[in-house]
Amino acid sequence: MDKNLIIPNHIGIIMDGNGRWAQERGLVRTMGHKKAVGTLKDLCIHMADMGVKYCSLYAFSTENFKRDSSEVDFLMNLFITAFKKEFDFIKEKKVRVLFSGRREPLPEGVLKVMDQIVEETSQYKNLTLNICLNYGSHAEIVDTTKKICEMVQKGSISLEDITEDFIQSHLYQDLPPLDYVIRTSGELRLSNFMMYQASYAEFYFPSVYFPDFNCEEFDKAIAEYNKRNRRFGGVK
Ligand code: FPP
Repeated sequence: MDKNLIIPNHIGIIMDGNGRWAQERGLVRTMGHKKAVGTLKDLCIHMADMGVKYCSLYAFSTENFKRDSSEVDFLMNLFITAFKKEFDFIKEKKVRVLFSGRREPLPEGVLKVMDQIVEETSQYKNLTLNICLNYGSHAEIVDTTKKICEMVQKGSISLEDITEDFIQSHLYQDLPPLDYVIRTSGELRLSNFMMYQASYAEFYFPSVYFPDFNCEEFDKAIAEYNKRNRRFGGVK
């Protein structure tokens, strides 16, 4: 790896195109999700090795519950199997796992394995993987607003305490802002993904479907990031 490469501190990945990947191969949509687990594992190892500190993954949106119940059930079972099966590499690479999203109405089995993985990886300091599951940015802003209003009501904070940094640190997870958002499959949308955190992020929209977004494709994304001139509203 080129030592002069700038590695984004916090990368967001919208893992899109699993269904189309499968359909184009004459397979059922869920086979695309299955293949995506392998892609994701390779990427996580790659990111941990290259020194990415934070990665947020859009695994399941609040809106994804509108899908056919057989696909939702398949995905919930896939999360359980994947989190259990991939525990070893997560521990080996010292990856800390966090989740963002509403717990309700996730099935008990999913919640149980989520809680276990969070607890068992809480001390790791390599890559932090923030898995957005039953996540929506609007829902996050509503939930955060309620949390902050309760603090005001109880008198534990006053209105003057509510700053941009205060809001940022009371979102589902207190993470640094996103530097780079990658959405695979050529769709040019944010789809309710981490809107507060992405306000100054750079965006990259490769046309490949997520199951084909391998380490080589990821390196192309990093090379593209290195061409960007980030100004944060200022002049350079
Ligand atoms: C979007 O593709 C993908 C999803 C809704 C599910 C993402 C899930 C995984 C990558 C599985 C592994 C995740 C973890 C955290 C173990 P799509 O179904 O919308 O594809 P389409 O746009 O082609 O229909």
